[in-house]
Order: sequence, then C-alpha cells, then structure tokens
Amino acid sequence: MTTDFPLFRTTKPTPEAERENILAAPGFGQYFTDHMASAVWTSADGWQDRKIGPLEPFSLHPSAAVLHYGQEIFEGLKAYRHADGSVWLFRPEANARRFARSAERLALPQLSVEDFLASIEELVRADEPWVPVSTGEESLYLRPFMFASEVFLGVRPAAQVTYSVIASPAGPFFASGIEGVTLWISSKFTRSAKGGTGEAKCGGNYAASLAAQVDAKQHGCDQVMYLDSAGDNTLEESGTMNVCLITADGRLVTPALGTILEGVTRDTVLTLAGDLDLVPEERPITLGELRSRAADGSITEVFAAGTAAVITPMVGFKGEGYEFTIGDGTPGKHTLAMREHVLDIQFGRTEDKHGWMRRVL
Ligand SMILES: Cc1ncc(COP(=O)(O)O)c(C=O)c1O
Repeated sequence: MTTDFPLFRTTKPTPEAERENILAAPGFGQYFTDHMASAVWTSADGWQDRKIGPLEPFSLHPSAAVLHYGQEIFEGLKAYRHADGSVWLFRPEANARRFARSAERLALPQLSVEDFLASIEELVRADEPWVPVSTGEESLYLRPFMFASEVFLGVRPAAQVTYSVIASPAGPFFASGIEGVTLWISSKFTRSAKGGTGEAKCGGNYAASLAAQVDAKQHGCDQVMYLDSAGDNTLEESGTMNVCLITADGRLVTPALGTILEGVTRDTVLTLAGDLDLVPEERPITLGELRSRAADGSITEVFAAGTAAVITPMVGFKGEGYEFTIGDGTPGKHTLAMREHVLDIQFGRTEDKHGWMRRVL
C-alpha cells in the first residue's frame, strides 16, 4: 500500500507580495495556503486518491452524511521554522495516534500513522514559503480532518469518507504580550460524560460547547472551564485547552484522563515538569480544592496547555455567585518559564532531549 501523496501544483499560486503581506500579520485561522492534502476511503476499496492538490472547495451532495449526523474528526499541530531556515513538526506521531483513536470512537476508518505523516509533510513541502520566519512563535498551523462524505440518509457509519489537510499561517497568539485569561466555571453545561466522546477530537464536541462559550462571554469571561458531568465537581478542561495547577510545594497538577482530550501539550508539560523542579501529578481536582487553595495561597498558578496558544495563564475564575483570582491575578513565573521552555524546544533554541522534533525541510 502506498503512502505517497503526489503533488499536483496549483497553476494560480498566491502572488509573492500578497503572501508576504499575509505573513506579516496572519492572525489565527484567517488565511490558507495554496494547497491541500486529500484522500478518499470507501468500504470496498480502502484509501485511494491520495494527493496534494490546489486548495479548493469540496463539492458535497446535500445528503452527505457529515451534514446530518456529524461523523467528523480533526487534529491540530504546527510546523516551525528554525533560525537556520529548516522546518520541523512537533510530536506529529502523537497527533496521528490521537487521530486514530478519534476515528475509532466515531466509527471512521483508520488512517495509518505513515499516511497521516506523509500527507502533512508533503503539504508542508509544497507550501514551504508559507511557513513564517519566526520572531517568537509564528508557525504554520496544520489541520488534518476526516468526514463522512457518503451520499445517504440513515444512521450508520458511512461507507465513503474524505480525509484532508489544510494549512494556515499563524501569528503570535498574544499580539500584545502574554495575557492571562478569565474563566467562567459552568454549572449549566458539561463537555462530556463517561462513555461519551470527550476523549475524541470530533466536531460535535465543539458544536456542543458554543452555547457555554456564549454564556462565558455574557458573564464577562474569556473562556469556559468545564466540570465533570457526574456531579463530583471536579475540573475537566477549558474549551480548547487542558488545565494545569502549580502548588506552593512544587507540584504541577492536572486532571486525570478519562473524559478529557489527551492533549499533546498536556503530556509535554507533564514530561518537562522536572526540568522546572516541579513534580507532575495527574489526579482529580475538585472545584472546592481550587477555590480554597487559591484563597490560602497554596495554589500559586493556573495555566492552560494547548497547541494554539502553547501555555496560557489562567488568572481569574467566576461561577454562579462567586469569583476569585489566582495569586495577584497576573501570569506566574512557572507558567512563563514553562511557556519559554516549550517554545525553545519547538523552535530549536534548546536541545530536543525527548526526540520530539521531526524535520520536514
Ligand atoms: C478540548 C481540548 N482540550 C485540550 C486541547 C489541547 O490539546 P493539544 O495540546 O494536543 O493541542 C485541545 C486542542 O486541541 C482541545 O480542543
């Protein structure tokens, strides 16, 4: 079985001046490169038609299953340009494995790790000029996704599925320095339940989170913090990031896996905790513990971990009838040190002791 994604180059690339303009201020998720990867799976023939072609709209029949039953998954990772011009991916095998787990949960076909990596690497090679020169954390965000494209109505796994990867240049997440975010602790909405799809990266999870996000904004907060659905009042995660606490006695604590997304950045900070003299700990954290230990100062910092913003300080929390800050409400020193440490590895500014970087160009 081939894992080649042959390149059919666009005849209408974005003019260089326009691309340079975009790369000067790309924002996040607003601009897309000239090419896309794609492949199609059918239950009869497996994966076929692998290619890198011009970025173009899909043509979907109105009954395509994804439009009705939401059978869809995705991933998010980045390509980083190092100071010597080389281009690297960070732990893409971890995204490939999570994509495979998400596919299994959503009854979608398995894409091999080799196909996942080849599609991404060939797309990055085709669109190399779109990988920003970094002055801090600019990168090329990569979005692999898979959806049910079979034409039928009826609730069953689709017999035709489309896989694709698109790429979007991303600027620094915090344009004006690293800001802390405030969280609305939702007592109305939960994100997932045991046996549900919380561990999968499927579009439906995010569709179901939008009302909670609106709620958070209405309460003057930037993001939502979800609690478990079993009524144990334990912290789960934020809308697109995992949560970590730093304690005064030098622990980096994060909720255990089960109903949350197994973040690549979460695993990265757990692995790197020792480099900052922190002891990693995965266990349930109750809202009561967070509130009382924020008040007595034994939880000194809280941060979110995710690919898009790397590490985001969480400085204030609000819920029905209460609100509190962490420390003095500004980003903490361990949070900032961890952020720099992760970015230094991703941009090749420090030794890659764990073999996490994969060179593409
Ligand atoms: C719900 C959710 N949790 C956590 C994360 C962080 O995962 P990662 O570090 O792999 O980006 C993400 C982002 O993908 C997410 O969407």
